[in-house]
Amino acid sequence: MFKEKFSDIKEGYTFDDVLLKPLKSSIEPRESDVSSQFSRNIKIRIPIISSPMDTVTEDEMAVAMARYGALGVIHRNMGANEQIEMVKKVKKEETIIIRNVISVDPETPVSVSKTIMQTKNIAGLPVVSSGKLVGILTKRDLEFSDSRGKIKDIMTKDVMTANDDVSLDEAKYILYKNRIEKLPLVDKNGKLTGLITAKDIKTREKFPNASRDKNGQLMVGAAIGAYDLDRAMNLEKAGSDFVIVDTAHAHNENVISSLKKLRKELSIDIVAGNIATTEAAEDLISAGVDGLRVGIGPGSICTTRIVAGIGVPQLTAISDVSEMAHEHGIPVIADGGIRYSGDMVKAFAAGASTVMLGSLLAGTEESPGVEMIINGRKYKSYRGMGSIGSIIAGKSDRYGKLGTNEFIAEGVEGSVPYRGKVSENLFQFVGGIKTGMGYIGAHNLDELREKAVFIKISNNGLKESHPHDIRIVSEPPNYQNFNIY
Ligand code: XMP
Repeated sequence: MFKEKFSDIKEGYTFDDVLLKPLKSSIEPRESDVSSQFSRNIKIRIPIISSPMDTVTEDEMAVAMARYGALGVIHRNMGANEQIEMVKKVKKEETIIIRNVISVDPETPVSVSKTIMQTKNIAGLPVVSSGKLVGILTKRDLEFSDSRGKIKDIMTKDVMTANDDVSLDEAKYILYKNRIEKLPLVDKNGKLTGLITAKDIKTREKFPNASRDKNGQLMVGAAIGAYDLDRAMNLEKAGSDFVIVDTAHAHNENVISSLKKLRKELSIDIVAGNIATTEAAEDLISAGVDGLRVGIGPGSICTTRIVAGIGVPQLTAISDVSEMAHEHGIPVIADGGIRYSGDMVKAFAAGASTVMLGSLLAGTEESPGVEMIINGRKYKSYRGMGSIGSIIAGKSDRYGKLGTNEFIAEGVEGSVPYRGKVSENLFQFVGGIKTGMGYIGAHNLDELREKAVFIKISNNGLKESHPHDIRIVSEPPNYQNFNIY
């Protein structure tokens, strides 16, 4: 019985155990398309997700990720209300149709309208009487106006409006044709239903590849605990496009029955994890999840494998889960252990649809981590969600709570080199992925998954893969090797 445990022991592989063989190719890297399915109903242009960790993803990171075509998941190491407010902030960052329009009555004194515009930082106020739009007040109307007068005396009465179902192109045309900055939307009774501004359209056009929902707002997700039904429902109400059920071990009967309850209550996508086996994938898919997050212990800050002796080397975990997930059309997120863009290519080749990053994004400008200077070089703090600091700081139960005030840490706290803006990093990551696809001759990630062939390497092969026999004096942005600091 015990001997057998070793006689048919399975071998597990991770990123440094393999390389991908170059294959005959007819494409140039720039021609390849890296768009991918994140979950059953969400497709994104850049297959990279920022991890729900308290030193990685809050609203600022989520906005940056979504603007450039990727996605951010807001962590849950905070109260539900605070997390909901962050989701709302991301959703409000770029709206095309403003729905809660601030309007004024025609009898309002001019002085009051000036204060409203200043404090709310808005350049135009629709004027509404008995529920109907009767005018608009712009900064131009206010120039040289008498503050003691009433709005009705100075407002623009002849207002250009559009129906509520106006398309973006139509709205742009009306704004341009009439040389106006604001377009109020009205229903058939003349009731104000929304407002489109030229400024919002211009912001949107700066980011043509952004991950957006059907209303044109940036997409964002949030992490929840396995039993956070209320939080999940409030997040959905606040506009969260999906939730990630964020547990250290999702292959657990209580978690699975909770997933079934969540499935009944929510209409947004539910991604669940973390898991590392085919059996776990099967059970979670049966519970109705829309995406799977894979990785038990590969993360740069994780100590799960050391503390608990548990885990599956990450490439094997990705391929075991993907085998089942792909049969059911459920996308897989490869979460943890990714240090270079080459690791991302290997994760896709093993079956993943997207990769989730912690350490590679913790050092960016937009992460919430604290900046510090060590030996003249800039760093940002980064810690595991199962580190002592994170457990004490937060309300999360992902790791370590054994039902008392004592806890068992499964992560460490540290710092990572500062890496500039998210946009610069995404550019490098996508460039690396496309380069890999060029070597394989893959036009898209489906082709990469189909064609890729792994080759097992030795320790010498790994040594040969990194720069060697040179003292590096200039680091390219896509190769930061920790051992040289
Ligand atoms: P990277 O390697 O990108 O990994 O920094 C990020 C992922 O690590 C997981 N995570 C943890 N795992 N203990 C763990 O065992 C922890 O304290 C911990 N904190 C985060 C998580 O899946 C994350 O996305």
